[in-house]
Amino acid sequence: MIRLALLISGRGSNMEAILTAIRSGVIKNVKPTVVISDKKDAIGLEIASNKFGIPVKVVSQKGIKGWLYDSQIVTVLQNFGVDPDSGLICLAGFMRILSPEFVGRYRMRIINIHPSLLPAFPGLHAQKKAIEYGVKVSGCTVHFVNDGVDSGPIILQQAVRVVNNDTEETLSDRILQQEHQIYPRAVKLFAEGKITVVDRHVSIMK
Ligand code: GRF
Repeated sequence: MIRLALLISGRGSNMEAILTAIRSGVIKNVKPTVVISDKKDAIGLEIASNKFGIPVKVVSQKGIKGWLYDSQIVTVLQNFGVDPDSGLICLAGFMRILSPEFVGRYRMRIINIHPSLLPAFPGLHAQKKAIEYGVKVSGCTVHFVNDGVDSGPIILQQAVRVVNNDTEETLSDRILQQEHQIYPRAVKLFAEGKITVVDRHVSIMK
């Protein structure tokens, strides 16, 4: 069993999509062990706890950054048995950049979802940037986390057409629907041991 930790900061809809896929048996061999938030009022905490019965922990910021903060997360992960060589960490709207120490410790075992077709529009407000730039196609990307911002090896991507009169909200909504498809799919592939990574290149076994 792969012990999974989900890190959130807010709504937690991607977390919910992953937990639903695990509960329904679509994803096997993964045990959700803890949901961690940096915000105590994250709505996703209630969903994790009330709907799925998963332990939740808040590691609030208190103005600390980098490894000083991340080491507190690592302590929670250790307490829940999410180990660097066997665990999995899914960032699901977690609004902090992880320190190189944290990423190095859990190398290729931290996954993130981003609402654009990377490497286009990394960072915050990806959907707004896509609209402003005038792209005709955007989408979402599931990737491993490396030391950069939204720059790790890409696991899955899904394109979403940008249509006339799209606003940040309408495009975000359509991209989010696709996020809920590809994030659980990527976790399933990981859990089935179907992902191999060489440098930046992710291969997926058929
Ligand atoms: C999603 O758009 C995700 O791509 C981005 O943050 C948002 C999180 O939404 N990283 P939710 O909390 O999963 O609903």
